Amino acid sequence: MGNNNENIQRRTDEDGVIFMSVKTEGENQTKSSDEKDITILAIESSCDETAAAVVRNGREVLSNIISSQIALHTIYGGVVPEIASRKHVEKINGCVRAALSEAGCTLEDIDAIAVTYGPGLVGALLVGVSEAKALSFATGKPLVGVHHIEGHICANYIEYKELEPPFMCLVASGGHSHLVYVKDYGVYDIIGQTRDDAAGEAFDKVARAIGLGYPGGPKVDAAAKQGDPDAISFPRAKTSEKSYDFSFSGLKSAVLNFLNQAEMKGEEVNKNDVAASFQKAVVDVLTEHTMEAAKEYGCKKIAIAGGVASNTSLRERLQSECEKQGIAFYRPSPVLCTDNAAMIGAAGYYEFLKGNTMGMDLNAVPNLPLGDRERRYHGRSSK
Ligand code: KG4
Ligand code: ZN
Repeated sequence: MGNNNENIQRRTDEDGVIFMSVKTEGENQTKSSDEKDITILAIESSCDETAAAVVRNGREVLSNIISSQIALHTIYGGVVPEIASRKHVEKINGCVRAALSEAGCTLEDIDAIAVTYGPGLVGALLVGVSEAKALSFATGKPLVGVHHIEGHICANYIEYKELEPPFMCLVASGGHSHLVYVKDYGVYDIIGQTRDDAAGEAFDKVARAIGLGYPGGPKVDAAAKQGDPDAISFPRAKTSEKSYDFSFSGLKSAVLNFLNQAEMKGEEVNKNDVAASFQKAVVDVLTEHTMEAAKEYGCKKIAIAGGVASNTSLRERLQSECEKQGIAFYRPSPVLCTDNAAMIGAAGYYEFLKGNTMGMDLNAVPNLPLGDRERRYHGRSSK
């Protein structure tokens, strides 16, 4: 499990939006038959994916519908917030309907409605939050607000039924790069984070600079497979000996400088080599920090999460380092690494169990901090 066994049905709508229904493989029994099942309808709309899912007991995905707008934003080279919000409005009811119907249930069978309320694009988040509030108001079912990054972390619970905290989690997405010590369900200690660009953002910017286009991560990943990772020596930023923080803006500038200098000298650049060398620099830093943090915190379990966690090289490197050090490695299938609502259903379940429900005053919080409820920030040596 947690590999690439993806079972995805895809179709493209007349407006270029890709509609996906994702089946997750693996054994689905998550509770003994005498315990009451908790079924959650989850909604995610923080960026350019409109998604709805039905998840039972936090780990059993009954349906996972993702409506991706990637094709629409590709023309602009990145996500256009206004377009994203408008498409969410058009697609969200259809996604919720499809999620319920595929799960073979109605709103009657749902115990709670979970929704991402931050961080993300405010207009995009508001669509999901309004939908969830309307459904909660109409049905009287409890409303659970979920932090998007906590959702990414909880994606690991879906394919690894045996995974329980504590564990170390590397979260790398388009907007975030965090090293998180998951102490318990819903209890997150941030032990490192990016000082500037997120890892995914660096992938996207470098992809644009070498003319690979949007979305950058998967394109750099593919190009890197054809290139030499040792062709160009790009810098690996160390913020300080005492810190697990990341910094990717220097690396991004080094790539841009390399490209500019080559252009000025009239030299031809091998794009695949640039992609492979850049990717290696990112993967080196992410892997090194994660392994050191696991060592310091005495973790025998490492998980990864977020869009960048689907990067082939990062998965391979961490897998091999974990094997060497006898650490269990958890990596969700790529479709559960990028934005989806099943992960929101997983995170929402643990919030619901804790009684963390919200009222009709729930609002979108574009810069919602991770671990808001029990927020802590620790440096390298202050466990
Ligand atoms: O988690 P996600 O879907 O959305 C956010 O919450 O940001 O992450 C999207 C990010 C983008 O920057 C994308 O380029 C990156 O994840 N990404 C990848 C790969 N697939 C997606 N980065 C590197 N390698 C990949 N294979
Ligand atoms: Zn995300």
